[in-house]
Amino acid sequence: MACKGPLSGYRILDMTQFESGTVCTETLAWFGAEVLKVERPVKGELGRYTQAEPGIDSYGFLVMNMNKKSITCNAKAPEGLALLKKLVAKCDVIVENMGPGSMDRLGLTYEACKEINPLIIYASLKGFAQDGPYRDYPAFDPIATHTGVLVSVTGLPDQPIKAGISVADSGTGTALAMSIIAALLQREREGIGQRVDIAMQDFMIGLSRSQWEPYYANGRPNRRVGNGMPLEDVAPSNTYPCKPFGPNDYVHIYCSRHPGSRQWDELCDVIGRPDLKQDVCPEMATPHERYLHREICDAAITEWLKDYDKFTAMDILAKADIPAGAILDCDDITNDPQYYERGMMVEIDHPQRGKVKLPGFAPRLSENRIEYEASPALGGSNEEIYGGLLGLSAGELAELKEKKVI
Ligand SMILES: CC(C)(COP(=O)(O)OP(=O)(O)OC[C@H]1O[C@@H](n2cnc3c(N)ncnc32)[C@H](O)[C@@H]1OP(=O)(O)O)[C@@H](O)C(=O)NCCC(=O)NCCS
Repeated sequence: MACKGPLSGYRILDMTQFESGTVCTETLAWFGAEVLKVERPVKGELGRYTQAEPGIDSYGFLVMNMNKKSITCNAKAPEGLALLKKLVAKCDVIVENMGPGSMDRLGLTYEACKEINPLIIYASLKGFAQDGPYRDYPAFDPIATHTGVLVSVTGLPDQPIKAGISVADSGTGTALAMSIIAALLQREREGIGQRVDIAMQDFMIGLSRSQWEPYYANGRPNRRVGNGMPLEDVAPSNTYPCKPFGPNDYVHIYCSRHPGSRQWDELCDVIGRPDLKQDVCPEMATPHERYLHREICDAAITEWLKDYDKFTAMDILAKADIPAGAILDCDDITNDPQYYERGMMVEIDHPQRGKVKLPGFAPRLSENRIEYEASPALGGSNEEIYGGLLGLSAGELAELKEKKVI
């Protein structure tokens, strides 16, 4: 049954930029909250325009700002700050991911906002913890993935490699959304507002928790093992090329690291190599033995894969209960109808970009259905919010616009 979403009725003052913070508020918007994205007049949020296409909303902006309303406000002008403070009084949550100290310099501290609205949930996302020694350091995603374990275990032994997607940005933003919802639940029950802080480095440390198993087991920091199994030296665990051998024509195959698992034997059946089964071939008898002789098992798998494309190979292997995943890139996902049928990909109509296909929201709630809306035009909701919500007259609005306050 369609409804406006579990967070309908909640209003969010969104002072976020780029990916981390905007993903948080987009999540809240998808859950049905009314998100008022505050942007600088004329320039907009820093992620809105690129140098290559000034004045045209970037695809990055489209994908991270769906279902929001945009209002413009120069927070550094006294009249702009006054407008923001009026909005604080009318919002349930304020979310920001500005550089360290920026909100303080604007005069929009938690204490100031709490004085205006004692029940406010004030959520901040920074690169580093605000009560730690790196508190004043700026951070984009790779800074957090490097300082938060991920890159120490990703890549090759002599070549650390950063992740190809913004795990720290989008991950921390999503965790912040979850924390805000928890704070709202507590507010419902206990009638209290609170401050919610999250640091990207800290989120990455938590996300890397599986790494502490081998760290303690081996008594040293973990190695980088490429496409191998990071927790234990076992095989097969590799990303193998397949037909037609383009840049993303690969399938990753990993058989359980637990001795006694049947997955390797099942794989031997699929690839027509019963001579390599655990009970038959001593070099392949256990996951670790296979690792020690991995050139044998990798060669057998590679030989079989040369006749299959990645989709067919994944199907055959997975249907035989062997964990296998093709590399699926943006093109593969965008052009596969199954993702639209279940709402993981959505087509939105954007005033500047036309019809654009973008990823949707993974969680499903049985009593809700998200109606995806395009990201807002810069200041597109100024009249509705300043006029309707704050009660400013048309004349006052015109004057504020003239002075570039909004
Ligand atoms: C990402 C980051 C490094 C970018 O740094 P930056 O480009 O220098 O931008 P900042 O956020 O530091 O500064 C933006 C300035 O715009 C100002 N600003 C933002 N919105 C404004 C508005 N509506 N009106 C007027 N000024 C505004 C801020 O007040 C700030 O001014 P200040 O430097 O005088 O305090 C930094 O914001 C940061 O560390 N953020 C926290 C971590 C994070 O989220 N990183 C990942 C982003 S994907």
